Amino acid sequence: MASVPARSFTDVTVQSDRGNPHWTRHPGDAALDAIPGDDGWPIVGTTFRQLGDPIGFGKEMLAKFGPVYRTRSFGRRGVNLIGPDANELVLFDRDKLFSNEQGWGPILNLLFPRGLMLMDHEAHRIDRRALSIAFKPEPMRAYCGQLNEQIARGVEAWSKGAGADGVTQVRFYDLIKTLTLQTAAVSFLGLPLGPEADRLNKAFVDMVQASVAPIRRPLPFTAMGRGVAGRRLMVEYFTQLVRERRERPGQDMFSQFALATREDGSLLAEDVVVDHMIFLMMAAHDTITSSFTTLAWHLATSPEWQDKLRAEALAVTGGPGRALAYEDLGKLELTDLAFKESLRIMPPVPAMPRRALRDFTFRGHFIPAGTGVGISPAAVHADPALWPDPDRFDPLRFTPDKVAARHKYAWVPFGGGAHMCLGLHFATMQTKVLVAQILSRYALEAAPGYAPSWQAWPIPKPRDGLRLSLRRLG
Ligand code: HEM
Repeated sequence: MASVPARSFTDVTVQSDRGNPHWTRHPGDAALDAIPGDDGWPIVGTTFRQLGDPIGFGKEMLAKFGPVYRTRSFGRRGVNLIGPDANELVLFDRDKLFSNEQGWGPILNLLFPRGLMLMDHEAHRIDRRALSIAFKPEPMRAYCGQLNEQIARGVEAWSKGAGADGVTQVRFYDLIKTLTLQTAAVSFLGLPLGPEADRLNKAFVDMVQASVAPIRRPLPFTAMGRGVAGRRLMVEYFTQLVRERRERPGQDMFSQFALATREDGSLLAEDVVVDHMIFLMMAAHDTITSSFTTLAWHLATSPEWQDKLRAEALAVTGGPGRALAYEDLGKLELTDLAFKESLRIMPPVPAMPRRALRDFTFRGHFIPAGTGVGISPAAVHADPALWPDPDRFDPLRFTPDKVAARHKYAWVPFGGGAHMCLGLHFATMQTKVLVAQILSRYALEAAPGYAPSWQAWPIPKPRDGLRLSLRRLG
């Protein structure tokens, strides 16, 4: 299967069937008449209901129509498959029925083309294997050292504005977003913090914002216009950086990508390295920020768990502010459980799109080739039949005996199968370093009765930035 060629930054057809003659054509809305569901309003269909309140809309559809239902968004009908068995069918994809490129491409092709998540089958396998080198123990140990250093410095500065009582009022999401951008400049790109890293970070943030902007054409003064300009800047900068890193590699992820080789021993082409790196930064950034913010919220409102995680971190690192060694990551067992539980309650990737390459039948429903197929980790993670009292934060749901008793695909925040998140160990490592560095210095507190509202889509975040108090310890 051919993947999307590199094309002009402004060629919006890269996102459509017209620009991708090799994509499997939609079978036409009538071909899905037999699937239960809702077409919504004329022209707009269910698009705005789905975007406005994806979780509520999904719950309503599931209750009304059952675990296989159709909707009509962005001009055509598609099908949603809900349940652990549906997750397994689509993610494990034993029969290579589904295309990632054609599922994610219409959303991400203009700004993040040719990332691993947008590749299929053999081409995907080859590049994934090459890039996996960046996540082997040696480079991971180096990133761990950099994360400790950067996060310690950033977190230490949080209490500069503290009052006489040692308390600082913060928007926690914003703090983590900034910190994650700064650590990415160092561990992903090997750049010192400063104006250059800031310029790249701004370009990157513009791209991420544009990827979900309602106006899809890069017109002046639109988010898409800024996103496309950001992409141009990053491509130029990264192309130069590949050459530099090939000559003088550092201990950063970009150097690993620049030197990655395919099975025949050849280096990846420069533009391929650049696209993989830009995609990876996007895949890493908001997901880590979202999941750590969710964890912090649950720790602020479950002080007993916050105390347990603090005690665990102090016991493992040996004291406040001490670095968490790479070798000790596995010892933060309670932190691991708590992180898994926050990923269950608020998965950063709440839904995953695919397109069917061939006809198939699921739970007695015939689904023709070309149909857009969606699965929803958020819906499965909230199913009371799998997770009793699903809104309650209870990390003990992830003890080994409980995990063994559950369907393997009941918990899929990192996806599964060939496209399982490549950065899941990195995300877990960064989370553990954040826990150790933050909880050993501060107590996280929420005002009584405070209940932040969360924006559910495209990546969950608290609308007000999550207002917490940081109380300096010791
Ligand atoms: C809590 C944090 C994260 C979550 C919840 C998460 C979630 C996911 C999910 C669900 C997918 C699969 C999407 C699909 O199959 O359609 C994915 C893919 C991917 N993620 Fe993550 N991610 C996280 C952090 C990261 C980080 C830190 C990195 C890089 C350092 C990363 C790199 C990637 C890459 C490269 C892919 C594409 C893999 C492939 O298609 O082969 N992610 N992630």
